[in-house]
Amino acid sequence: MSLILLETPHDLRRAAREQRHRRRRIALVPTMGALHPGHLSLVQAARRHADWIVLSLFVNPVQFGPHEELDAYPRDLEGDRRKAEEGGVDVLYHPSVETMYPPGDATRVQVSRLTDTLCGRQRPGHFDGVATVVTKLLATCEPDVAVFGRKDYQQWRVIQRMTRDLALGTEIVGVPIVREPDGLAMSSRNRYLSPTERKAALVLPRALEAGEQAIRAGETDATVVIRCMKEVVSGQPGVTAEYLEIVDAQELQALATLQGEILLAGAIRVGQARLIDNREVSTP
Ligand code: PAJ
Repeated sequence: MSLILLETPHDLRRAAREQRHRRRRIALVPTMGALHPGHLSLVQAARRHADWIVLSLFVNPVQFGPHEELDAYPRDLEGDRRKAEEGGVDVLYHPSVETMYPPGDATRVQVSRLTDTLCGRQRPGHFDGVATVVTKLLATCEPDVAVFGRKDYQQWRVIQRMTRDLALGTEIVGVPIVREPDGLAMSSRNRYLSPTERKAALVLPRALEAGEQAIRAGETDATVVIRCMKEVVSGQPGVTAEYLEIVDAQELQALATLQGEILLAGAIRVGQARLIDNREVSTP
């Protein structure tokens, strides 16, 4: 079956109701477009959970800060449409800003505590924007599952918590990070990197790996491991660390002693780009 393009909540709700009526399981894959193999791995995961896959493509203005790259965000509807179709998506949902945020729009969804650390600390209001748009998408589509990448680990945890707290009834699936052969996490933002910056950006996965190695070698003091990761990044010219933190994998709170399920996460700036990455580590 070929890909259908839908542009309004009314049309998506009606199409989803029809699928439910036919007892087909529905999966939603929210994206901002500029699709790459990381996004398509979410579609593959969605296929394992559902019969009908909706991929939303919406560059959500309310999750960008005043100095962030909203206007420069890569947009390629035709390319995305082709990739979505080849990837096995059934519906491409591409609403306008005015349909998602009608005049007089006054409602935001806010998830507290989990958003106090990592990217939440660096990007005030960002996760309110993400939680709000994802709530709208879930409320319109009412999918059985929604699929997110663990590259944006904090986003995945925030959406999971929000969906549970608001009793939205959708299962939130988290898919492992898809990387380039050299280890850089795939991201729409990688296209902003010059060849030199692209090489320098590898310092982020290397720093996280060094942190994991220190933990595997028996280090349990978070300060020591963070220092080790910071040393790796500061040795790389042209890169500045925005944060390098270690948190528990559920509540995303900073840890002093490293034990249990933990997350090593970082954000760096390279040229015009801000890149994030993480490693999940479980200690005995
Ligand atoms: P976007 O950055 O387009 O990412 C869409 C989804 O793809 C997210 O769940 C993200 O974690 C996942 N993803 C991106 N790169 C990935 C990679 N290398 N490996 C695995 N998954 C990857 O995240 C957003 O859009 C927005 O915040 C959104 C959730 C759509 C709300 O506006």
